Order: sequence, then C-alpha cells, then structure tokens
Amino acid sequence: MNQKFANDIQSGLSATQKSIPYIYFYNERGSWLFQQIMQLPEYYLTACEICILDTYKGKLLEYFQAKKKGFNLVDLGAGDASKTKILLQDYVEKGVPFTYTPVDLSTSILSALSESLDAAYPDLKHQAMNKEYWDAMEILKDNTPKSERKVVLFLGANIGNFTYEESVDFLTTLKSYLNPGDQVLIGFDLKKRPEIIYKAYLDSKGITAAFNLNLLHRINQELGGNFKPNYFRFYPYYNPQTGELRSHLVSQKDQTVTIDALNMEVKFEQWESIHTEISKKHTIKEIESLATAAGFTIKEHFLDNKAYFVDTLLEI
Ligand code: AVJ
Repeated sequence: MNQKFANDIQSGLSATQKSIPYIYFYNERGSWLFQQIMQLPEYYLTACEICILDTYKGKLLEYFQAKKKGFNLVDLGAGDASKTKILLQDYVEKGVPFTYTPVDLSTSILSALSESLDAAYPDLKHQAMNKEYWDAMEILKDNTPKSERKVVLFLGANIGNFTYEESVDFLTTLKSYLNPGDQVLIGFDLKKRPEIIYKAYLDSKGITAAFNLNLLHRINQELGGNFKPNYFRFYPYYNPQTGELRSHLVSQKDQTVTIDALNMEVKFEQWESIHTEISKKHTIKEIESLATAAGFTIKEHFLDNKAYFVDTLLEI
C-alpha cells in the first residue's frame, strides 16, 4: 500500500470541507482518461498549445540558443511528450545540439516515451528521470555544466492546479535550482468567456466526470473502500472573478462509506461535496506579477490567435 496516498486520503476525508488531492487522478486509468480529455473538442487547451508551439518553435529556439550554445530541455511532467515532440522534431531536423530530459512520476509512461524517442529520433540525446520535480531539479543543478543553459518546460497548464500563492511558491522554488541565464516556458490557460471554460470541464461525453469519479474507484481498489461512485455527481463551477474552475464530487444522498485500510468510516450528508481540483485561468497582468514576485524576467508571451492560451518564456 502507498502510505502517502493513505495518509492524504485519511486527512482529506476527515476535514470539514472534504477533499482529495488532484495528484491522485493519475493512476493508469486516470492517465488514460486524461489522454481522452485532451482529445475532446471542448477541451481547447491542448489544441491551442500545440498551435502555439508549432507557430513559435523557431522563435523559441532563438531564445533557447541566445548567448549560450547548448541547452538542456527539462520537461516537468512530460507524460507522453506529445506537445514537446513538436519542438524535438524541429530541433532534431535542424541538427541543434541539445539534451532532452523528461521528468515524470509514471515509470510506464517514461519507458514508453524513451522507446518512442529512440525510434523516432535516433540522434537525440535524452535521459528520462523517474522522479519528483524537486528531486530531479536537485540532481540537474549539480550535473548540468554552467556553460549549458537549462530550459525548463512546464506545459499543458499544469500550473493551473495551483492557487496564485502556490504558483509564486512553485516558481520561487524552481528558481532556487536554476542559474542566471536559465529559462522556463510555462503554459497558462487564460480567462475567456466563462461558458467556454465551463464546457471544457462539463464535457458532453462525461469523460471529465469519469476522470473525477476515478478517484473513488482508486480508493476502493487501493484502500479497500466501498464508495458507490454513482451516488456521487461531478460538478465543476467557474468563478470569473478569481479565474478558478473548481471541481467537486457531490453526494446525492446521506451515506456512509467505509475504507478498510484506513479503519475509517466517512459520513456524507446529501449535497455535501468532495473538492478534487483547481484549474486556474489567468490574465496576462497576473502572469506578469507572478513572474515578478518570483524574481523572473519575462522574455515573451506566445499566444494563440484566439488568445485562449499562452506559453510564457521566463528567464532569471
Ligand atoms: C492537467 C491540470 C491542466 O486542469 O485542465 C482536465 C487537468 N482536469 N480536465 C486541467 C484536468 C479536468 C488539467 N491540467
């Protein structure tokens, strides 16, 4: 049994506002469901970012290569690297000297990625790291030569899982592992018509609902829970003021769930909710104050033509 998972579920379900940390979405089934989400027509984020990377890959390369020749492209939460491959493909074709370092917690995803990289780009230097972000950054801090720039990618609006304050903390910690001249490319989802945002989560096929309910299945499987997932309904709501899309699982009735491995009984009142995720939407202004607060300089914002999404390049 995963002890950290057990502890986190225990404390999350004991609190007044019950919650389950978003990091637990990504077991094998959850990762598969997320791949399906990225292909939904309503989930505009992925298509927008692909378009941005494709349009600006050359411009980005000029920044990555400015002043320093080689660079190490560090991809935090690489997954199957479907977006990063747009850059890799182009840079390999151009014979650019660089190293690719995908970092991910999933062993199976990383070994599949390494195989596909070897097959598609036999000349690409890559070293996968099956580690937590900060453990990987610690190792890279020591073994990247000073003459080589680190370019850290944090794509896919993964930063949206953080509140503003948590993002400042994240960037401040990231900066402590970087040297002057190192760069960070971050994908942010932007504020836009609330209906569009809402529909990206309340999708018509119910894939995002299944993705959230999978948390309950996971507790059943790994911790001996007896959740009846169909007694809960997925409910996302968007607050245009804060830019936070918050996801909840709402109990449809009074019910008691037991979780054997935790020796725990969890009581739910009808309409009580479990909070599962924040997916924050930003403004450019907010991104700028975030970067400044964490001590980065903004090199450029790369937007798609509808201004739905931005990849912002930062430097220290
Ligand atoms: C991976 C955090 C960017 O918040 O949009 C997709 C995860 N959750 N649909 C997001 C997610 C529901 C996604 N991020």
